[in-house]
Amino acid sequence: MDAQTLQYRFGEHTSVVRLGERELLGQFAERTAFVIWDENTTDHLEALHHLPNTILPSGERAKSLATVEQLLDSFVTHALERNSTVIAVGGGVVCDVGALAASLYMRGVRLVLVPTTLLAMVDAALGGKTGVNFAGYKNLVGTFYPAEQVLIIPSVLQSLPQREYLAGLAEVIKTAMLGDPELLELLEQNPEATLERRPDVVRELILRSVAVKGLIVEQDFTERGGREWLNLGHTFAHALESVSGFEGWTHGEAVAWGMAQALRCGVRAGITDATYAERAIALLRRYGFRCELPDLAVDALIDAMQRDKKNRAGRIRFVLQRRPGETELRELSPELVRSVLATQS
Ligand SMILES: NC(=O)c1ccc[n+]([C@@H]2O[C@H](COP(=O)([O-])OP(=O)(O)OC[C@H]3O[C@@H](n4cnc5c(N)ncnc54)[C@H](O)[C@@H]3O)[C@@H](O)[C@H]2O)c1
Repeated sequence: MDAQTLQYRFGEHTSVVRLGERELLGQFAERTAFVIWDENTTDHLEALHHLPNTILPSGERAKSLATVEQLLDSFVTHALERNSTVIAVGGGVVCDVGALAASLYMRGVRLVLVPTTLLAMVDAALGGKTGVNFAGYKNLVGTFYPAEQVLIIPSVLQSLPQREYLAGLAEVIKTAMLGDPELLELLEQNPEATLERRPDVVRELILRSVAVKGLIVEQDFTERGGREWLNLGHTFAHALESVSGFEGWTHGEAVAWGMAQALRCGVRAGITDATYAERAIALLRRYGFRCELPDLAVDALIDAMQRDKKNRAGRIRFVLQRRPGETELRELSPELVRSVLATQS
């Protein structure tokens, strides 16, 4: 199948997304480039094996300023110059931390992201948010620095554990709810093919999700209004992750749970169409996502939401939907949220 190209303008930057096969990597044969691998992606993509590189340990713990410093050290050791290219190959963690280091070195070198998880393909690699965790907060420190190219090679997903694939699917469902009713139908009508990762379906999911996210970010690159929609379900998800100590739930599972809560709260507040809420929750369940309250204290979840760093002036703001494609930011009272959560236990 031919490679497909999408181009976006994010602030001052142009980002080109190419979706295709391993040939996409041929362009680096002669260039001065440095590769950042995740330890689980080093066997992939032989076309980059000749380049100088460093390997990061897998997982969220690599998203730290210490890793950024280690990467900057490697760039100096390998004498990277202003015109050199940093290529980050991995999931959202390697994309976020690699992009942050690339944005800082010499005030910004050329950046290419090669996302290797579904989540990174449909979300993390596109849109220019870089970051590391700091002082116990996720993504507290970062920059806006879109990649010059995002090279998506869906066949690398073959080795991705199913749970990680599902984490990406939660974001695909979110994207469909935000901006692509046809994608929502495709997910409803093709659960087996989607879960079995049939290549034509996976390619379609990725292309459509990238198109929705690309458009939202183009309209609001620096998150002053509009881009926040991408946080649908996230206020609930962050509270769940914090109260459960980041154990037992992947971020995607937490987001799926959070979207179900946002739909229920929206119905209770008279905003969300009840039939749409039922339909979307049925879809989340069809993909195996838990939509009910786990064995956690409701008060602890509400407290965590009130501490969310995205709140303004101490009020909890939620991304809610009226129906597919109709999204808005609303404040809800803690009492309403508490009553919705409490009726599930
Ligand atoms: N910048 C953004 O806009 C943005 C958006 C969403 C999420 N994120 C960030 O992304 C991160 C989560 O990303 P993620 O879910 O990709 O997690 P991840 O990067 O930790 O990858 C998940 C796991 O899959 C492994 N892996 C990666 N590719 C593989 C492959 N092809 N085969 C086998 N194993 C593979 C990794 O080693 C890791 O163990 C979070 O830190 C989140 O904050 C950023």
